[in-house]
Amino acid sequence: MNNLKYYLSLVERIFEEESFVAEPRELYEPIDYTLRLGGKRIRPTLLLAANALFGGNTDEVRGAALGIETFHNFTLLHDDLMDRSPLRRGQPTVYQKWDENTAVLSGDTMYALAWRYFLRQPSPRLQAILQCFCETGIEVCEGQQKDMNFERMTLEEVSLEDYRDMIRQKTAVLLAGALKIGALYANAPDDDIERLYEFGLHLGLAFQLQDDLLDGYGDTAVFGKKTGQDIRDNKKSYLPLLAMQIGNDSQRNELLTLFAAKDNMDEEEKVRRVMALYERMNLKSAVEEAIEKEFRTAVQCLDTIPADEALKLPLRELMETLAGRKK
Ligand code: IPE
Ligand code: IPE
Ligand code: MG
Ligand code: MG
Ligand code: MG
Repeated sequence: MNNLKYYLSLVERIFEEESFVAEPRELYEPIDYTLRLGGKRIRPTLLLAANALFGGNTDEVRGAALGIETFHNFTLLHDDLMDRSPLRRGQPTVYQKWDENTAVLSGDTMYALAWRYFLRQPSPRLQAILQCFCETGIEVCEGQQKDMNFERMTLEEVSLEDYRDMIRQKTAVLLAGALKIGALYANAPDDDIERLYEFGLHLGLAFQLQDDLLDGYGDTAVFGKKTGQDIRDNKKSYLPLLAMQIGNDSQRNELLTLFAAKDNMDEEEKVRRVMALYERMNLKSAVEEAIEKEFRTAVQCLDTIPADEALKLPLRELMETLAGRKK
C-alpha cells in the first residue's frame, strides 16, 4: 500500500514532467516561477489519495492533479495582490517581482490552464467533475470577497459564524473539492463522496485556522510569508475574533481601538501592540485548542468512510503532518 511519501513524490514527478514555459514569456514566466516554487502540494495529494481510496487508477488523474494545483496557485497570485503580501514560499510574490497586471493576467491564464488539465483525461463522470470544479471556483471567489468585505468592518460586526462561513468558502471547499474530484474519477458511491467531502471541509477549516495562527506566531523564514500581514490588512482572522470572545472589557476595547487605528499609527507599531495584547490574553493556546477540535472532527469524518484502512493511511499521515505544520 502507498503512503503519504509516495503520493508527495508522485506529485513532484507529475510537475517535473510538465512544461509551463511558452510564448509570450512575460505571461508564462510568472506561471513557471510559481508552479516551480512548490509549496506543500496538499490539494493534488488529497486528490490522488482519494482516487486510490476508491480503487482509481493513479495514471488517470495526473491531469486533475495538475489542474487542482494550478487553480490553487492562480488564487495565490490574485490573493497576494489583494492582500498586498510581499512574500510567498520565501520568495517575492508575482505582483512584486513583476507587476500587478502580470499577477492578474498570469493568474487568469492559470485558471484556464487548470480547465485544460482537467479536460486531458476523459471520464464517464467528467460532467460531475467539472461541475464540482466550477462550483468550487465560484465559492472560493465568494469567500475571498467576504474576506475583503470584513477588512472594512469592525470586529464587532463580524461574528465567528460569519468568519467560519468565509473560511469554509475561501479555503475549505478547495480541499474538499480536491478529494471529491479524486473520488469521482474513481467512480466512488455518492454517499462515500459526501462523507469524504465533509472530511475535507473540516480539514480545510483546521488548515485555515492554522494559517491565521501562523500569520501571527509563525517564523517568516520557515512560514515563507511575512508574518503580521493579517494585522496590517485589518483582516478579521480567527485571532482577533476569538480575542473578542475571550477577552475582558478592557482587552476588547483595546483591540477595537487598535483595529480602528488607521493612519494615526505606524503599521509595525500596530502589529507589536496587537501581538502584545494576544500574549497577555494567552490567545495562542485558545486558538490551538480550536484547531485540535477541528482536526478531531475531521478524523471522525474519515473514520465513517467504509474503505480499506490501509488506503486511508496517506490521508491520516497528511493530517498528522499538517497538525504539526510550521509552514
Ligand atoms: C495557502 O495555501 C493559502 C491558504 C489557503 C491558507 P497553502 O498553505 O497550501 O500554500 P502552499 O501551496 O503550500 O504554498
Ligand atoms: C487564503 O487566505 C485564501 C486563498 C488564497 C483563496 P489567506 O490570504 O490567508 O492566504 P495566505 O495567508 O495569503 O496564504
Ligand atoms: Mg493572503
Ligand atoms: Mg487573502
Ligand atoms: Mg493567511
